Amino acid sequence: MSNYHIKHLEEYFQVYRKSVENPEMFWEEIAEEHFLWRKKWNNVLSWDFTKPEVKWFEGAKLNITENCIDRHLVTKGDKTAILFEPNNPEEPAQKITYKELHKQVNKFANVLKSKGIEKGDRVCIYLPMIPELAISVLACARIGAIHSVVFAGFSSNALATRINDSECKMVITSDGSYRGAKTIDLKGIVDEALESCTCVDNVLVVKRINSAIAMKEGRDVWLTPLLDEVSSECEAEIMDAEDPLFILYTSGSTGKPKGMLHTTAGYMVYTAYTFKNVFQYTEDDIYWCTADIGWITGHSYIVYGPLANGATTVMFEGVPSYPDFGRFWEIVEKHKINQFYTAPTAIRALAKEGLGYVESHDLSSLKILGTVGEPINEEAWHWYDDNIGKRKSPIVDTWWQTETGGIMITPIPFSTPTKPTYATLPFPGIQPVLMDAEGNEIKGNQVEGRLSIKFPWPSMARTIWGNHQRYKDTYFSAFENKYFTGDGAFRDEVGYYRITGRVDDVIIVSGHNLGTAPIEDAINEHPAVAESAIVGFPHNIKGNALYGYVILKDTGESRNHDNLRKEINQIITEQVGPIAKLDKIQFTKGLPKTRSGKIMRRILRKIAANDLSNLGDTSTLLNPEVVQGIIDEALLEVK
Ligand code: WTA
Repeated sequence: MSNYHIKHLEEYFQVYRKSVENPEMFWEEIAEEHFLWRKKWNNVLSWDFTKPEVKWFEGAKLNITENCIDRHLVTKGDKTAILFEPNNPEEPAQKITYKELHKQVNKFANVLKSKGIEKGDRVCIYLPMIPELAISVLACARIGAIHSVVFAGFSSNALATRINDSECKMVITSDGSYRGAKTIDLKGIVDEALESCTCVDNVLVVKRINSAIAMKEGRDVWLTPLLDEVSSECEAEIMDAEDPLFILYTSGSTGKPKGMLHTTAGYMVYTAYTFKNVFQYTEDDIYWCTADIGWITGHSYIVYGPLANGATTVMFEGVPSYPDFGRFWEIVEKHKINQFYTAPTAIRALAKEGLGYVESHDLSSLKILGTVGEPINEEAWHWYDDNIGKRKSPIVDTWWQTETGGIMITPIPFSTPTKPTYATLPFPGIQPVLMDAEGNEIKGNQVEGRLSIKFPWPSMARTIWGNHQRYKDTYFSAFENKYFTGDGAFRDEVGYYRITGRVDDVIIVSGHNLGTAPIEDAINEHPAVAESAIVGFPHNIKGNALYGYVILKDTGESRNHDNLRKEINQIITEQVGPIAKLDKIQFTKGLPKTRSGKIMRRILRKIAANDLSNLGDTSTLLNPEVVQGIIDEALLEVK
């Protein structure tokens, strides 16, 4: 018997020990006892990090939607699977039962088939947080199509890059979306994106805001009439364990976004098992994760993990500030939320608005609180603990990544004593190590290093779509035989981990990963700009904000810097999306470069943070003389 549901600390240690001493037996027991297989595996695990190649449950056959939906029909067909809370608090919430979800997913899957989508085809989903988003994800999985969800805050240019990279045959979108008091013309953004995509045959349009939109003849089709024509039964495609389930793009230090590819069986087993334990889900709980399904958190802990456990998962369409800053707490009270999982940036933003919004709501249903996406600072942690959890609901600070598929380092509530700012201990099956710059493992406690993982886990991404070499270079080349996370971490005297932040050039703004390259490319498109470099600097709500260093072309003309700042941010909004706007822009005459021409961001980061105490060694620079100039300018005119 596996200890599927860990209930106290000794049990955690016992389970953890088993998971590292005999990983195959450990995962095999969990897989056998808790899932529905059409055929069992021949081999639990084969792996080789030098290639890198990882296979879990090879030979097994299954469909993840049978695990997330069909198998619950007999025991909990009338239980709410998805509880949808609309943007507008006046609009009634919608409860979709497992039976209803089954029907809707099957119908949607039949529509996909009727439009020629087959196993292995890529489908891009660009939707707001409405039930059709979860349903279309599951409909793809039902027929073995590979979904690629793109967060509906990305610009047309960012969307086009992602559609083209994985050659999606179809885009699923809506006529528009509600976001607080605003509406956004999603279909217009798709139309613009598709001007530079030739791979898309059809655009399936969900009606959400009833706006008058243009429909391109032969390409664009409304979803609703098609749903009326198809059957509500759709046989699940039987997939191999290692068949692709989805692609999800994440930013890298350089170059275009990386399409992380996740496969079926391992992802299912790991997200389900982590969901059960990290949120200690019990049968009648109402669980709410505030993330968007456009990010990995939404994939794993709004859709797949909760549904695989037959849970009730809340989907919220709106924003925390609409109609006022009490919206989250109003929803907690209204739906009697038991587990609440959000991002540190949201906690900081809400804390700033004062306790009035919190105190007017009954939060007594809450049992467990979670955070994800970036380090949580001590002040925000305590605010969350004192005012939301009332010091009785453990906070699970969960560290993980798009690449890892599921939660990796986390407390198990009611088992692991929590410690502010610490993600604490590895989840069963996860073997973290800290490495120094020379590639040696740093043993012992009270040490800091680069966080790596030395053994495969079931939900790790298997490759970068279309670029296995980049996958190898990015994650498996820094340290021999280890997966390198890109994060730094500290291990305290009892072995708890605290994530200290990225050690590469990825910048996390409000919990969103941003790569420098696409933003710099956008800035450089401004006709007055010669070159640019962006770095992150500390921000008390967003965690980090973006600081741009911009070199203007020497045209002899002088330009108004405030106007240029606006224009640059406008281009970034168009090319990448509003989340990538710069908070500060410094016009500069030079950028520090290494002899090979690489920008020395370390120095720029220090100047942006106004931390001039130790700029480090500048002697290896090609142009050390520019540094003082940049410091002087920073003092004069940065907005
Ligand atoms: C950061 C989100 C500190 C980290 C699931 C990681 C965190 C990146 C935490 C992945 C945490 C995520 N504490 N930092 N609890 N969780 N991060 O791919 O830098 O959007 O590498 O996945 O977010 O972000 P991603």
